[in-house]
Amino acid sequence: MMKLFFFAYTLVLYLNFAFTQSAELNTQEMEAFKVIGEKLGAAGKKEWELDKDPCSGEQNGNLYVYCNCSFESNTSCHIYKISLTFQNVSTALPSEFTKLPYLTYLDLSRNYLNGTIPSEWKTMHLDTLILVGNRLSGPFPIALHTMTSIRYLRIDGNRFSGPIPEEIANLKNLEKLYYLFPLT
Ligand SMILES: *[C@@H]1O[C@H](CO)[C@@H](O)[C@H](O)[C@H]1NC(C)=O
Ligand SMILES: *[C@@H]1O[C@H](CO)[C@@H](O)[C@H](O)[C@H]1NC(C)=O
Ligand SMILES: *[C@@H]1O[C@H](CO)[C@@H](O)[C@H](O)[C@H]1NC(C)=O
Ligand SMILES: *[C@@H]1O[C@H](CO)[C@@H](O)[C@H](O)[C@H]1NC(C)=O
Repeated sequence: MMKLFFFAYTLVLYLNFAFTQSAELNTQEMEAFKVIGEKLGAAGKKEWELDKDPCSGEQNGNLYVYCNCSFESNTSCHIYKISLTFQNVSTALPSEFTKLPYLTYLDLSRNYLNGTIPSEWKTMHLDTLILVGNRLSGPFPIALHTMTSIRYLRIDGNRFSGPIPEEIANLKNLEKLYYLFPLT
């Protein structure tokens, strides 16, 4: 009886593993991922292989992409977390992040990103946004005025200026905000 149980358990684990490995990133997200990678400077980063499915489980240089492949309705995966830090990325923030509808965690800290947060980002459903230590500038970004999903927001160590707007009251889930603190 016990043996049978272990066999069944092992089989479940194996199938789960096999399923996770074979699932692929949703095709629209794969397209968006390539555009984002190119905009973030893939040309200078040989270790980023943008044609490779980021959900395959292999590491893509210092571009960390986390996929969720456990959606019952479809066997394709969705990107829910991206982390790219300390990589000297010196562009504007790509608006195409909005084409990753399952993205909830984004960390692009300690790069040289400039401009402001694109207004298109207001449609995103981020829980965590970490942009500490870049060169973002202008007033408190308007895109954040209505991002009600945000819980943890770090945009300190940039070149933003001006007060926290009263719209911050819209952000009902906000627990932590780091804004104008200098980089430490
Ligand atoms: C399931 O995933 C495939 C591959 O990404 C996609 O083309 C298709 O539209 C998805 N179907 C549904 C019902 O979401
Ligand atoms: C993946 O998606 C499923 C279905 O929505 C959800 O229950 C699960 O918590 C998600 N896992 C992660 C790690 O986000
Ligand atoms: C970033 O630039 C500095 C200074 O040029 C260099 O020392 C460092 O290796 C670069 N880091 C990466 C990840 O390219
Ligand atoms: C951002 O940096 C790039 C390259 O360094 C520069 O061409 C562009 O003008 C900068 N944009 C802003 C808004 O500062």
